[in-house]
Parts: sequence; C-alpha cells; structure tokens
Amino acid sequence: MDILTKKVKGTEDILPSDAYRWQFLEKLMRNEAEKCGFKEIRTPVFEHTVLFNRSVGETTDVVQKEMYTFDTKGGESITLRPEGTAGAARAYLEHAVYNDGLPVKVFYQLTCYRYEKAQAGRQREFHQFGMETYGAADARADAEMIFAASNIFDRLGLSGIRLEINSIGCKTCRRDYTNALKEYFTQHRDQLCDTCLSRLERNPMRILDCKNESCRIIAKDAPVVLDYICGDCSAHFEKVKTFLDAADIEYTVNPTIVRGLDYYTRTVFEFVTDSIGAQGTVCGGGRYDGLIEELGGQPTPALGFAMGIERLMLVMKAEGIELPEPEKCDLYIAALGEEAEKKAFEITLDLRRSSYIAETDIVGRGLRAQMKYANKIGAKYSVVIGDDDLESGCAKVKNMKTGETTELSLDDFGAGFTQLMLQSRRDAVIASLPSEKNSDTRGGE
Ligand code: HAM
Repeated sequence: MDILTKKVKGTEDILPSDAYRWQFLEKLMRNEAEKCGFKEIRTPVFEHTVLFNRSVGETTDVVQKEMYTFDTKGGESITLRPEGTAGAARAYLEHAVYNDGLPVKVFYQLTCYRYEKAQAGRQREFHQFGMETYGAADARADAEMIFAASNIFDRLGLSGIRLEINSIGCKTCRRDYTNALKEYFTQHRDQLCDTCLSRLERNPMRILDCKNESCRIIAKDAPVVLDYICGDCSAHFEKVKTFLDAADIEYTVNPTIVRGLDYYTRTVFEFVTDSIGAQGTVCGGGRYDGLIEELGGQPTPALGFAMGIERLMLVMKAEGIELPEPEKCDLYIAALGEEAEKKAFEITLDLRRSSYIAETDIVGRGLRAQMKYANKIGAKYSVVIGDDDLESGCAKVKNMKTGETTELSLDDFGAGFTQLMLQSRRDAVIASLPSEKNSDTRGGE
C-alpha cells in the first residue's frame, strides 16, 4: 500500500463511525472528575526533555528507551509527552496554581507518545484520562482518587477489573530497600541485561520493571518493598485501606507493584484485567510526594492516576459493553427541481436553528440517490419536495421506520415538524409503559 495512505505503526485512527464511543467515555470521565471537584488542565503535547528525565526518571524504561525526543531547529531538546503527570506538575508550578487554594485538583484527557513494541493494547500514540491532586497528604485523598477511577469502571458496567494496591514507602525507608535490592541483584548480575547492570548501580528498583525475560525471571524472587517501609508509611497505608473499606472498594494488596516511573512514593495502585491479554493494566497511579519539590517547588504532597483509553475500549469490547449510539438525522429533505432545492435548503437551515439534525442534498443527486442516502444515514423522517408541493404549499413527511406519512405545510414547516416529533416521542413513552393488564395487580373485589 502507498505510504501516503498508510498510518504510522503504533498509531490508530478514530473513525466517524466509532467516535461516539470516545465522546461517551470522555463525557463520563469529565463528569466523574467534576463531581469530585477536579477541573480540567490542558498542557502542550511537547515539553523540554529534561522535565521528563527529572520527573519520570533517568533510569526508567520510558526515559531510556521509549521517548520521542528531537532537537528543534533552534537546538532545544524537546520530547513528546510520554505521560501527563510531568506536564501538569510543570504547569502547576509555572503558573503558581497553588495560589488558587490547596488542594488543587486537576484532570486531563490527552495523547501520549511512547516508542514501544506495538501490540494489542500497546500503542506508540495512545490516550490517557488522568486526575491529579496537589497539596493533600491525608489518606482520604488516596481513597478519593481510587474511588474516582473505580467509579468510572462501575458506571461503565465493567466487572472484570480488579484493584491492586501497595505502598512503596518514602525516600527515607526506600534507602534500606534499595540496599536490599542491590545485594540481591548483585548475586545475579551475570543474568542481567546491560541496561539493568547500569540500573544496579544507579537505581536497582527499576530492574523490577525491565521487560527483558531473564531480568524478569530474577526479579520474581527479589525482596519486596512492603517489608521495608517505615512506621509512618505503614500507618498511612493502613489508613488508606481503612478508607477503601469504608467506601466498599474491593482491593488486594500486591506487594510486587512498584510502578515503572520514578516519582512514586507511598501508595501505588493498578486496576488490572485478564480479559485483554498481556497488556492488562488499564489504570495506574499513586502518590508522588517528592515530585513538586524535585521540580523546584515547595514540598507538596501529590497523587494521581491515569487510565489508558484504548485499553479501556478493549475491556469494554471483551466484556460486551455497548454504548448508546449517537442521535441519527431527524429529517432528510430531498428536493426535485431548482425552486424546490432552494425551499429544501431553507427548511433544513430553519430546522437546524431549532436544534434538529436536518440534512438535504449538497452534491446534486437525483431523487433515488437522495433517498438511498437518507436510508444510509438512518434518517428518522424524510420528505420529498417537488414543484407540485411548492404549488400546493404542502409536503408529505414519511416516518422511515413505519412508512406512515403526515402532510405538513411548507410555510410553517418547523412548527409542524416539532408537533410530529413530540407526538412520536409521546407514542414511544406510551409504548414503553407496562400494559394495563400486566401492571394492574390490585385484584378484583
Ligand atoms: P502509566 O502506568 O505509565 O502511568 O500509564 C497509565 C496507563 O496508560 C496504563 O495503565 C495504560 O492503561 C496506559 N498506557 C501506558 N502505556 C501505553 C501504551 N503504550 N499504549 C496504550 N496504553 C498505554 C502514567 O502514565 C502515570 N502518569 C499515571 C499517574 C498519574 N500517576 C500519577 N498520576
């Protein structure tokens, strides 16, 4: 196939026939975030490379292997965002958003870019919905965050997604853990890949999320971080669990979760499913109490999550979740003859002014082709306007499902069509009511 009509590997198009699913999810997620008091933040697609090096971490797979980094003509190193947390934190600091009053709560829907091996559920351009809170250290903030993600899955009717949580401690308690990992991996250094050999010195925790097979086998028996967390972190984790219990959110503690990004502290969590193959993590997040300070701000506890929309779509498909299809065309107005075309165009625009979905021919088709198109777009009603109709001042509107026709005046078409739509809605409501026979349970005298 010609490269001109072939998308780049790892990217996907969202076609008109599918866009409504995305719109539905975006609307639902926005609504969930807004209910919890979060406001939208929009940040640029690219940032200075150093922002991701510093926040995501120099020794992570994302920074070492997956970033789309390039020099601009002006010689600046720029990177397409591999995730949303760093950009949001940068914007929070740059614009002193903390002056709006803490906690600051933001959400975003954005594209991310990672040069990974493309496969089902893993793309090079993908979409994330994420939420971030700045300035809340309390365990209720963790539970609020987890609840929001969990409620999105519940509202979509998904049942096969489970929540796994862990605590990876703070900077202080991490020191002991890092030493334990160093000791363990040093014993197996001959089986580590080159990248992990350098991680062994700089950041042994990152060996735990290496995708290389031999590193993964060794990592399985490595010490787990939960055994090394300090009293404060442990108490915080217990509180998080208490609030999750109070909120009736089911979870399991998975002590092997460390997350693949360097900024995390204390609570980390993932929502996972077995229904979509190897890339089963639909959502990931946690605390990052040190990040804002690392980027030059005041010490500020923070936390968040992001879910991959493509993976969510896959889970919905696997679980057979259907989304409501968008409204179809209310009325297709076919026209025959020059004068009729003018009238049809006029009526179409009038109906649109009244918020109906109205269509008329804009390509110069014959009547048969116009009606074929009306069928194809699933128009609820159609009307044909010809010279005779202009003369009589009336035209017959046809219900495309039942074939029933109703004559409407062309002079007052909008009002007539509104009556017709109201009547059809009334009929639909009556038809959906239980019949008298079935609903009357009072019994006789
Ligand atoms: P992450 O785990 O790297 O975390 O990504 C979050 C989610 O994005 C994943 O659970 C997955 O659903 C989706 N995802 C990641 N990579 C790909 C890919 N190549 N193709 C398709 N989907 C993908 C973060 O990005 C953190 N910023 C989350 C966060 C926000 N933590 C705190 N606040």
